[in-house]
Amino acid sequence: MAFKLYYTTLVVLILLVATHAQNQTNLPYTLVKNYTGQAFFDGFDFFSGPDPSASFVKYVDLDTANNAGMAGYVSNSELADPVYLGPEFSSITPDGRPSVRLQGKDFFNHSLMIADIVHMPYGCGVWPAFWLLGQGAPWPTAGEIDIIEGINNESMSTFALHTDAGVTVKNLTNMQHGNQSMEMEGTFTSLDCSVGSSNTGCAAKASWNNYGQEFNANGGGVVVTEVSSKAIQIWSFSRDNIPGDILDGTPNPHHWSPPEVKFVYNGNDTDILDQHFKNLQPIFNIAFCGAWANSVWNTSECASLAPTCESYVANNPTAFVDTFWAIGELQVYEPNSNSTSGYGGPELDSESAITLVPLAAHHLGS
Ligand SMILES: *[C@@H]1O[C@H](CO)[C@@H](O)[C@H](O)[C@H]1NC(C)=O
Ligand SMILES: *[C@@H]1O[C@H](CO)[C@@H](O)[C@H](O)[C@H]1NC(C)=O
Ligand SMILES: *[C@@H]1O[C@H](CO)[C@@H](O)[C@H](O)[C@H]1NC(C)=O
Ligand SMILES: *[C@@H]1O[C@H](CO)[C@@H](O)[C@H](O)[C@H]1NC(C)=O
Ligand SMILES: *[C@@H]1O[C@H](CO)[C@@H](O)[C@H](O)[C@H]1NC(C)=O
Ligand SMILES: *[C@@H]1O[C@H](CO)[C@@H](O)[C@H](O)[C@H]1NC(C)=O
Ligand SMILES: *[C@@H]1O[C@H](CO)[C@@H](O)[C@H](O)[C@H]1NC(C)=O
Ligand SMILES: *[C@@H]1O[C@H](CO)[C@@H](O)[C@H](O)[C@H]1NC(C)=O
Ligand SMILES: *[C@@H]1O[C@H](CO)[C@@H](O)[C@H](O)[C@H]1NC(C)=O
Repeated sequence: MAFKLYYTTLVVLILLVATHAQNQTNLPYTLVKNYTGQAFFDGFDFFSGPDPSASFVKYVDLDTANNAGMAGYVSNSELADPVYLGPEFSSITPDGRPSVRLQGKDFFNHSLMIADIVHMPYGCGVWPAFWLLGQGAPWPTAGEIDIIEGINNESMSTFALHTDAGVTVKNLTNMQHGNQSMEMEGTFTSLDCSVGSSNTGCAAKASWNNYGQEFNANGGGVVVTEVSSKAIQIWSFSRDNIPGDILDGTPNPHHWSPPEVKFVYNGNDTDILDQHFKNLQPIFNIAFCGAWANSVWNTSECASLAPTCESYVANNPTAFVDTFWAIGELQVYEPNSNSTSGYGGPELDSESAITLVPLAAHHLGS
């Protein structure tokens, strides 16, 4: 079923590109990076140090991932192969499960980041994330934006910001935008973004099942993150609900339904988001256990499986066969108007270009 939906989307995309005359001067955004297929692996590094989040994981480098079948493409003969990223799932791993954390080589300020996620990792003990981590200053001085994150068998993702002191956001839950639509669809669970006694940051829960089993069963969807001086907004579209202007490469958020979350500073300082969110680096990772999942294990739906999260993850390798990211497309657009935006980071090193083995073992929707 997943395959069928994705295929339909591609057909629609081709038709739209063929019939829409584009007028770039009218568009709010211009494409600056398209990390799709091979370009994804060219644009990201494998992080292989000790987990900065101190979870039950051993991140592996590119060679190890490639040889172990932990990174490649989802084999599918009839359409462009989505990028595959997954953990080791055949060995008992008492010291933490081998897994992957890919970090973008480019950093962004104001931008519109569009990610087509065909399949996401989830399950008992699993803590996946697609997020943006501010670079150039100690965490969380340059900010952190969590776009897709959750644990265990949750069905809705948590959107969150993390900053240093002084940032709170307005609770726009259930608020009207003008007299036309809602400001946002999700629900704020915390309004203080500052790192402090609790590390939850400011956070909101999605309004629909955009995470885990149901999300995957429906062929995934598209998540869009817009970073501007005024707001940080995240949209989450199901596969059958993706705006046409995203599919034809001319995205205009003004034409979309309300975002799942809209983070707006709760004060008058118009500079505050720019000060706290800089040089944002995209990251995809699959962690296991960690502080969040460990602390709720005994009261979670997974508790009966093992006494602790770590014992479950160490001793049940085959539970993680379907714990993988399949990333269809990832594009970064930047505003056409003047702003602090501009992508940075090192130039791409052509020698780092590699050809990964297509992974025949992973068919979507079968
Ligand atoms: C594009 O938009 C600009 C500004 O509205 C307009 O002047 C121009 O004629 C348009 N070009 C085309 C090819 O439609
Ligand atoms: C509110 O609705 C009225 C009537 O539909 C419309 O004329 C007006 O422009 C709207 N105002 C705003 C701020 O959206
Ligand atoms: C935000 O407002 C909504 C709706 O009034 C409420 O349900 C929610 O608890 C509030 N969130 C916070 C963190 O105050
Ligand atoms: C991004 O690259 C992919 C693969 O080359 C291509 O199919 C797609 O059309 C590109 N997207 C845009 C918006 O240019
Ligand atoms: C923000 O601006 C409004 C309107 O100018 C003013 O009423 C309010 O006191 C200001 N708030 C702060 C915290 O400065
Ligand atoms: C969690 O999801 C996995 C994968 O769908 C499933 O096998 C497992 O039974 C679920 N566990 C619980 C406790 O719901
Ligand atoms: C959860 O329960 C197990 C025993 O079943 C115990 O060993 C462990 O310490 C408990 N964990 C927490 C966080 O309470
Ligand atoms: C951006 O453009 C506007 C209008 O063209 C201009 O007034 C403003 O000074 C510009 N800002 C910067 C930072 O260049
Ligand atoms: C982001 O903006 C800051 C200034 O606030 C600048 O120093 C930095 O180079 C910009 N980064 C990118 C990637 O454009």
